[in-house]
Amino acid sequence: MRTGKFITFEGIDGSGKTTQIRYLADYLESLGYEVLLLREPGGTRISEEIRRILLDLKNEGMTAETELFLFEAARSQLVREIIVPALERGVWVISDRFHDSTTAYQGYGRGLPLDMVRELNNRAIGDVMPDMTILIELRADARKKRLGRRHDEGMRDRLDVESEVFKQRVCDGFSAIAEEEPARVFRIESQDDKEDTAKLIREQVRRILL
Ligand code: TYD
Repeated sequence: MRTGKFITFEGIDGSGKTTQIRYLADYLESLGYEVLLLREPGGTRISEEIRRILLDLKNEGMTAETELFLFEAARSQLVREIIVPALERGVWVISDRFHDSTTAYQGYGRGLPLDMVRELNNRAIGDVMPDMTILIELRADARKKRLGRRHDEGMRDRLDVESEVFKQRVCDGFSAIAEEEPARVFRIESQDDKEDTAKLIREQVRRILL
């Protein structure tokens, strides 16, 4: 029996997901829930090793298919080793990215066939579909400003250095996913004040899950 809830956060790089996840975790903990925070790719020793390969700037020769298989490999390990047992213990699991990122980046972004991406996503996640997904959307000007900051801090990885055209395709992919699954995916526009964004997210979580 899975008594915990599973929430995923999605959005383009620099959308402020990580900050919002912390706010939501604090809120849920204040209500007495046990919360486990994860990020994809990662979250297990094996998945973190795969993450290193995926993000390494030296691996510029990686094919789109290899990239897809590695994301799915990291995910299938995380689902079975960590997520399923946590949900069975009644823990609320929040993941910074999950299978929708693969649809958006490898499907819409890289242009791999969407039916293949969906099939592999389904294999990797089994029946662990998120109970709800928060898609954080950011206006293009705000996104450029935030990514510029990361660049200055020397924090860019192999996927951060992709072109604006690629990123626009990824954004369009996320929008398409939200349109296809309105009962699971909730679009939240990032507000100038982080606290305002956090409040919008809390309201959705309360409405759907509490
Ligand atoms: P990360 O540094 O965690 O990025 P962010 O802070 O933006 O979440 O790096 C993860 C990168 O991998 C990010 O650019 C998105 C990309 N990604 C995919 O392309 N496919 C996937 O399935 C996942 C989970 C991530």
